[in-house]
Amino acid sequence: MAQLNLPFIFLLTFLSIFLFPSQVEPSLAQHNPQNQNQNQTMAYIQSSCRQTRYADLCIRCLARFSRFNIDGPQHLAHVALSVSLSRALTTKAYLLKVVNEIEEFKKDKVYLTVQDCVAQINDSVDQLGQSIKELRKMIKRSIIDDNFLWHISNVETWVSAALTDVSYCVQSFPGHRMSKRTATIKVKAQNVAELTSVALNFFHRYASRYEAAAAARANKKP
Ligand SMILES: *[C@@H]1O[C@H](CO)[C@@H](O)[C@H](O)[C@H]1NC(C)=O
Ligand SMILES: *[C@@H]1O[C@H](CO)[C@@H](O)[C@H](O)[C@H]1NC(C)=O
Repeated sequence: MAQLNLPFIFLLTFLSIFLFPSQVEPSLAQHNPQNQNQNQTMAYIQSSCRQTRYADLCIRCLARFSRFNIDGPQHLAHVALSVSLSRALTTKAYLLKVVNEIEEFKKDKVYLTVQDCVAQINDSVDQLGQSIKELRKMIKRSIIDDNFLWHISNVETWVSAALTDVSYCVQSFPGHRMSKRTATIKVKAQNVAELTSVALNFFHRYASRYEAAAAARANKKP
């Protein structure tokens, strides 16, 4: 299976974020696949996303990868994790900017909340990066053994931890009457949480058949 080169995904993701800010979330209407492969990949992305809780966001964020030939559940999980990491990185950068801007209100409760959020998103960035590293170790392995299962459980642990951390950030803004800036932070963190949840869902789906096979094998042992 040909895998997407991760630095290349990053380059692509970041180029699209920095050079074409208005196209960060291309709508499906604008998306016009040129060839059959691309249409097939898009159909695969859509049907996979529809099985998650955040189908619209998932389709919107993964659509731009339809020009690559996403060739299976592992590849899809890899792409989703990269999208989640890239979103976490831009959210972290935004939060750091906000922290600098509101430094003069240091005693304000919002400042402390935003600072906590920076630490949580920072942890998520780290954990998502670790999960991608683990996934890449799995890709290199051709034998499904205990070591492979260990990498599976590592990826699940890292992504779950990332989801927990970013969810703390979302929950730390419970209010309905928020400033525009606070509301923006919450939405950005929420998007990271939802994309991370999607990535975890995709990874579970990929991993489950190996886990099931391992369980069946274990049951056969005397
Ligand atoms: C791909 O989809 C577009 C519309 O989304 C359609 O116009 C085009 O004919 C399709 N191409 C192929 C090769 O199926
Ligand atoms: C983010 O985490 C790294 C270690 O993972 C740490 O060195 C850095 O200071 C943290 N940055 C912030 C803004 O919390």
